[in-house]
Amino acid sequence: MEDLSPKPGDLEPIETASRDEISALQLERLKWSLRHAYEGSAFYRKRFDDHGVHPDDLHSLSDLSKFPFTVKTDLRDTYPFGMFAVPREQLVRVHASSGTTGKPTVVGYTQRDIDTWADLVARSIRASGGRKGDIVHIAYGYGLFTGGLGAHYGAERLGCTVVPVSGGMTERQVTLIHDFKPRIIMVTPSYMLSILDGFQRAGIDPRESSLAVGIFGAEPWTNAMRGEIEQAFDMHAVDIYGLSEVMGPGVANECVETKDGLHLWEDHFYPEIINPETGEVLPDGEMGELVFTTLTKEGLPIIRYRTRDLTRLLPGTARSMRRIEKITGRSDDMIILRGVNIFPTQVEEQILKCAGLAPHFQIELTRTGRMDDMTVHCEATLNAAEEGARVASERELSHHIKSTLGVTAKVKVHIPGAAPRSEGKARRVVDNRPKEG
Ligand code: DLL
Repeated sequence: MEDLSPKPGDLEPIETASRDEISALQLERLKWSLRHAYEGSAFYRKRFDDHGVHPDDLHSLSDLSKFPFTVKTDLRDTYPFGMFAVPREQLVRVHASSGTTGKPTVVGYTQRDIDTWADLVARSIRASGGRKGDIVHIAYGYGLFTGGLGAHYGAERLGCTVVPVSGGMTERQVTLIHDFKPRIIMVTPSYMLSILDGFQRAGIDPRESSLAVGIFGAEPWTNAMRGEIEQAFDMHAVDIYGLSEVMGPGVANECVETKDGLHLWEDHFYPEIINPETGEVLPDGEMGELVFTTLTKEGLPIIRYRTRDLTRLLPGTARSMRRIEKITGRSDDMIILRGVNIFPTQVEEQILKCAGLAPHFQIELTRTGRMDDMTVHCEATLNAAEEGARVASERELSHHIKSTLGVTAKVKVHIPGAAPRSEGKARRVVDNRPKEG
């Protein structure tokens, strides 16, 4: 694979600024953001007043811990436009996340917010090894989801030729990649696997494709999956993170030259890690729940937003801004099986160890009597599709799960093509247990 390390002059000055410079900028912007939220949004004014805090109480970055958290239900409770800090007419765009239940959560952007977002996605694509003039194939969904349009504006901002394909119609994805020869693809890692299938079905060697870099995010994926995709396409696979409430894609991104966790764009977002049970702020290096405060957002400033994503803060490497460890779980996705905590990514790692298994999978939860059961549905590779080979793979995976996760899981290895395919964010867990109560 190509060496894509940045050349001198490629980076923005803030990407190599000292920690002191970054902290000073954060403090100045944080004071503005708290005041803007308090003055512009009735929601925040009431929340701060009820909590007995005022923007003037912030003198240092650590004073932020005096301020109340914001959670997803706050956005739902103020649906659709109740949290914005500017008059609605100043918003040039809204996005929304579908959520699994009830009303979507709506977020809004001023023109300056859209500009900042484009700048940060452009920075993220550059960190991934993309350059002005590249062709960028975007297969994140376009629409209310922030993935498609967020990637789109960033790629344009960097000066790329954008192919706005959106998700779905996998055959057409393969044709367009083959004919337009993009250097960069932006897509969820699980949909990249469906595109890989598409290459194989079309009889085209994915390693011969023009793709040099994939910028994958919107869902948890493992380093084992990175290895799988890099090997299959002979390309770099880089992680991009973000969430609509904070902005969209491009809150943090890996650097292609190190691939050692995601650099947080700390000039626009202030991160904290908290103990999810007590809310206490934890020191850098400790695992906990990621919390964000936006530093420059006008339309929807977000103060101490609890993401439910679990990770830790690490010092900068390829850039001076801090990193988050690759996010392999969110508290919402955690399965508690007979007292053992399991994340779907841990199952993914075990599947990728088995030579006879394809990387597609779904976990089903059921209950017999008082006992919860977990069944891992996955599928055989073409050369291990015979009944005997599938039974052997089932045994192998059960053994790996038992010895690494400490639980007994049922494993069902289906014939090639039988496991559900993703076209966006994969649905990893299907809960068929009877509802309580
Ligand atoms: O998924 C934004 C996005 C689009 C990010 C495209 C990257 C690429 P939401 O739909 O609001 O926004 O979902 C946000 O997705 O809190 C995480 O739980 C998860 N997530 C996003 N990126 C990653 C990642 C977009 N790289 C939620 N690794 C977040 C793990 C991720 N989880």
